[in-house]
Amino acid sequence: MNENSPIEEIKNRLDIIEVIGSYIKVQKAGQNFRALCPFHSEKRPSFFISPTRQMWHCFGGCGEGGDIFKFVMKIEGVEFGDALRILAQRAGVELKRQDPQLRTERNRLYEICELTCRFFEKQLEASFVGQEAKQYLLGRGINLESLGKWRIGYAPDVWQGLSDFLTSRGYQKSEIEKAGLGLTSEKGSFYDRFRGRIIFPVFDLNSQVVGFGGRVFKEKDKAEVAKYVNTPQTLLYNKSQTLYGLDKAKVEIRKKDFCVLVEGYMDAIMAHQAGSENIVATSGTALTIQQLKILKRYSNNLLTAFDMDIAGDSATKRSIELAQGQGFNIKVVLMTKGQDPADMILQNPESWHQKVSQAKSILQFYFETTFSKFDPSTPEGKRDISKILLPVIKRISNKIEASYWVQELAKKLGVKEEVVEEELNKVVKENHLPEENLEKPKDIISRKQLLEERVACLVLNSPETTLEFITEEYFPYFETKIKTILVDLKERRDLNPDDFINYLFLKGEVEGEGIDCRTEVKLVLKEIEKMGTKTKLDEMSLEIKKAEMEGELERVNNLTREFNKLTSKLLD
Ligand code: UTP
Ligand code: MN
Repeated sequence: MNENSPIEEIKNRLDIIEVIGSYIKVQKAGQNFRALCPFHSEKRPSFFISPTRQMWHCFGGCGEGGDIFKFVMKIEGVEFGDALRILAQRAGVELKRQDPQLRTERNRLYEICELTCRFFEKQLEASFVGQEAKQYLLGRGINLESLGKWRIGYAPDVWQGLSDFLTSRGYQKSEIEKAGLGLTSEKGSFYDRFRGRIIFPVFDLNSQVVGFGGRVFKEKDKAEVAKYVNTPQTLLYNKSQTLYGLDKAKVEIRKKDFCVLVEGYMDAIMAHQAGSENIVATSGTALTIQQLKILKRYSNNLLTAFDMDIAGDSATKRSIELAQGQGFNIKVVLMTKGQDPADMILQNPESWHQKVSQAKSILQFYFETTFSKFDPSTPEGKRDISKILLPVIKRISNKIEASYWVQELAKKLGVKEEVVEEELNKVVKENHLPEENLEKPKDIISRKQLLEERVACLVLNSPETTLEFITEEYFPYFETKIKTILVDLKERRDLNPDDFINYLFLKGEVEGEGIDCRTEVKLVLKEIEKMGTKTKLDEMSLEIKKAEMEGELERVNNLTREFNKLTSKLLD
């Protein structure tokens, strides 16, 4: 290998013990060093590092090994290019930015997506058909501000518009294909995936463009081709982890402490435009556990606002079960049949806000939809209704709540409660979720825990910008394990191996590059503090009640004063 290559240069400047030692705790063992392997869980250290050979190897479960680059790739979960960048920085070796080979694949894909987004935006403004597309959008009620905010564009109706443009900017066909923007036909010609469509760019949590959805809009197209064409799964676009609009909704979801799920791009855009900014779209696909885990960072409360057609109905039911499984509180916005949020908002934004504020509990939702489908006055109707509702009631864990719905069902069916009880006893408690989605209750993570982990994770990712915010006042709010990590970091002690394994797990949770850890950590800490304050307030109101009953007026006064002080803290 070339002596002057940055790779050799970096290897010459860095010592493997120091590099690995900065990630995990290493101990001298004769000539070599050993550690607990960070890549599999073990009790005895079988991970060895040779300073003379500048290599590492695990003799335990995983059998992995290699040089510093391989180690950084594995431990950071990055590609070679990223590991190179990380280590170059550490070694003080300058990588020539312009050299395209040194830029990582991911970065190139981000550039392609951004450039493509601008290309489509321009087409919407400048081209003749683009103007038609724009008129269509305005006609659907999307205003100019929203067009800009969501960076909506138009893909010209030609075979190689975008790919010619990207090629002229120095990108390879293979890269365009990897970005999901071009395809090779059976005959070998290369063509654009998006043609003659309105383009909705899809953003990651940092508002970087990672994919696109293209919608037909001309009458003649509607019958012939798919309504939407979407970017497939790519290195940047992981569908099961993306929620459309979350980058623009996350602050508001946190503030309002609930999130509304809608189905379509149009729905999300129109809702934001109408002032409901705590809204994200599932983009018509089934909700996933990963998406739910991301949402839980922002709130524990979910509202679904899906179409009430049969598909929408089962999407709602499936989402409910999945989200309940993850410990969310869920309500359902009852939509008028055949109307989606976008339609409703176009007609009258007020009616949308009203529907959202009148969202139904899950049981109300099941009752209303089931009773509207069957006739409760006929014996068959009664049977069909109970067949659907009894298993739902069976799933309620609170006995008092369950008995309320038993009464309700008996009343509405015009039968005795005992009969309903009896039938309920026959129902086997079942779980409708497919195997893969079943998670043991102990694996379900509370929102508090999640937020704590997020803090640790952000601090670990960017200690220099975040550590100053980790002050003692927050410690009481933290669970011990996370607290240990934070205290260790704060006092720059070594992390112990157990914490470290935890750290690796946490690191995997940070999304994207260039996330603003500083701002994020402040927000999350505030949220944790708020949750703590809420718990404290609950306890205090009990105490106040008790003091009142015992007639201790002074205590009541003192407590009330403190209570009010705390409440005002919640408001700022
Ligand atoms: P909708 O058919 O409700 O589309 O599908 P929409 O975006 O709300 O469009 P309007 O209201 O008819 O203008 C909801 C979502 O499902 C995905 C898209 O993400 C869409 O926004 N979808 C739908 C597809 O991916 N492919 C399709 O063919 C249809
Ligand atoms: Mn729709």
